[in-house]
Amino acid sequence: MLYTSLVTLAAASIASALTPTGFQPGSSSQLVVAYNGEPALNGAVEAKASVQTAPSVATQQRLNGTSYAVLMMDIDIPTNAPPAVSTLLHWMQTGLTPASTATSLNATKGAQSVYLLQNTANTAAFATYLGPSPPAKIPLSHMYVQILVDTSNAKQDAITSLQTAAANRTAFSALDVLTAAGLQNSVVAGNYFNVTNPGPATD
Ligand SMILES: *[C@@H]1O[C@H](CO)[C@@H](O)[C@H](O)[C@H]1NC(C)=O
Ligand SMILES: *[C@@H]1O[C@H](CO)[C@@H](O)[C@H](O)[C@H]1NC(C)=O
Ligand SMILES: *[C@@H]1O[C@H](CO)[C@@H](O)[C@H](O)[C@H]1NC(C)=O
Ligand SMILES: *[C@@H]1O[C@H](CO)[C@@H](O)[C@H](O)[C@H]1NC(C)=O
Repeated sequence: MLYTSLVTLAAASIASALTPTGFQPGSSSQLVVAYNGEPALNGAVEAKASVQTAPSVATQQRLNGTSYAVLMMDIDIPTNAPPAVSTLLHWMQTGLTPASTATSLNATKGAQSVYLLQNTANTAAFATYLGPSPPAKIPLSHMYVQILVDTSNAKQDAITSLQTAAANRTAFSALDVLTAAGLQNSVVAGNYFNVTNPGPATD
């Protein structure tokens, strides 16, 4: 009984926090982000070396849409006025389509059945993947947020506005950019993980 309620509680708290508290537009649906088949989920601290090439992204449920975009941001960029932080766009890839059959991610922590988002049309990234590399500054640990946006019904104008926004990675606001494209309510899954500089911080 106690065990059941603890499991339920844990599931509920995970479900409400798949993007970091305060991040907008957030999601309570899991985006599975995996590097070499190993999921990097739920705020886990990942080794810098293991996250330097673009991950696979996937969902646990089969998606119905025809076109998706993934965005990844570092939301802990040090500024000249700590503890204030800024955001850097690390990746923006549009033109993803959901696989119709499940794939097994055979991770060390156990296998997981997922539906991959695939770049079958070889759409060029609007912002190519930048591997996380937090500097030796406060905060030493950075959160890297990934969101999946349903672009199935987006007009070309909306896609073009994403492309224009992605040309400037600094002080990137996912909320402003998606709102400008009319996609602020189209985030269907999210995730984040941390990467930590071993320090010490230089200032
Ligand atoms: C996909 O469509 C089915 C049937 O209309 C619906 O039950 C399901 O919730 C949809 N899934 C998503 C992820 O929207
Ligand atoms: C996971 O293991 C299954 C069963 O051995 C295999 O069929 C599948 O190809 C593996 N998946 C990956 C992504 O390696
Ligand atoms: C992830 O980074 C944030 C921002 O620095 C920090 O508040 C949080 O404690 C870190 N999480 C872990 C598990 O290190
Ligand atoms: C990038 O966008 C930020 C935030 O809108 C702005 O402050 C900065 O001046 C822009 N940089 C360039 C090179 O346009």
